[in-house]
Amino acid sequence: MKQFITLGEMPVEEIEQLLRLAKQLEASPINESLKGKTVALLFMNPSLRTLASFQAGVAQLGGNVFVIQPGAGSWNLEVEDGAVMDGASQEHIRDAIPVLGGYADALAVRCFAAGKDLATDLTDGLIRKMAAMSPVPFINMESAAAHPCQALADWKTLDDLEAPRAGGKFVLSWAWHPRPLPYAVPISAAEMALLRGMDLTISAPEGFDLPQETMHQLGKLGKVTVTRDPLEATEGAHAIYAKSWCAPAFYGKPEEEAEARKELRHWCANESWFENADPSARFMHCLPVRRNVEVTDDVIDGPRSATLQQAKNRLHVQKAVMAAMLGDASQ
Ligand code: CP
Repeated sequence: MKQFITLGEMPVEEIEQLLRLAKQLEASPINESLKGKTVALLFMNPSLRTLASFQAGVAQLGGNVFVIQPGAGSWNLEVEDGAVMDGASQEHIRDAIPVLGGYADALAVRCFAAGKDLATDLTDGLIRKMAAMSPVPFINMESAAAHPCQALADWKTLDDLEAPRAGGKFVLSWAWHPRPLPYAVPISAAEMALLRGMDLTISAPEGFDLPQETMHQLGKLGKVTVTRDPLEATEGAHAIYAKSWCAPAFYGKPEEEAEARKELRHWCANESWFENADPSARFMHCLPVRRNVEVTDDVIDGPRSATLQQAKNRLHVQKAVMAAMLGDASQ
């Protein structure tokens, strides 16, 4: 495996191989599969889990890691082709990516959506461009339209919890948030559930459906139902994944989006969402989460919450991805 960009483009058998390796690495966390290898982490945006879990994971596999955070001890990076660089950015990714690749055996990049043009962001062109520039294996640590590391951890979490595959009901519910958020996590969570064989129900208020292009792609992967009522959506659910995302019609127009969103604060995951869910139903969220905005304290702190398992599984699955790319198994 030379690139890990999005689960949606990977054969299920390859994903399942990674999950088996992640399970082995969970049982035996320390080995030397990255001995003598260096992994470069380029963060164009903030992180807690991704930053910490990649560093911990490389260390547990005997490798080295370095972190570059443009604008925080490193040059600001320009991403636009043909840019006249007389502004804040001192270095172009066309130079930075191959330079970093010259020091490392693998390059992992976080680069969120620009949030200006929906069609452009949905192509995930920037992360693909960076992957193409990289002289070494490349990992997407969250891009405009994909968060495959999170999705793989979420898949493992559902497996660990023995959530049903065929016939299982995965609810992806919109939640209110004070800012318009990108689509990377909801798209990847939806793809993951369908690839895992579950039925997907998307619960969102009018105007806050996922983009049409995304719905079209998801429909190719499996059964997708859309509802406007969280209580109807969560009936019989095995997993309830809350996440906010922006309204496609107002993409790049945050003031207009805020106006459309202002009456929707009641879209906060709460106990009532579990009343008619399957008794085994679990609450999921990728974190970070705004408590008592996206989810109530009693749900996220309660026995149904799988959020800490999701976060812990980031470590195991990312180690599997790196070992598959760079370890003996990659030879
Ligand atoms: N879920 C996730 O990627 O968390 P961070 O943004 O903190 O890395």
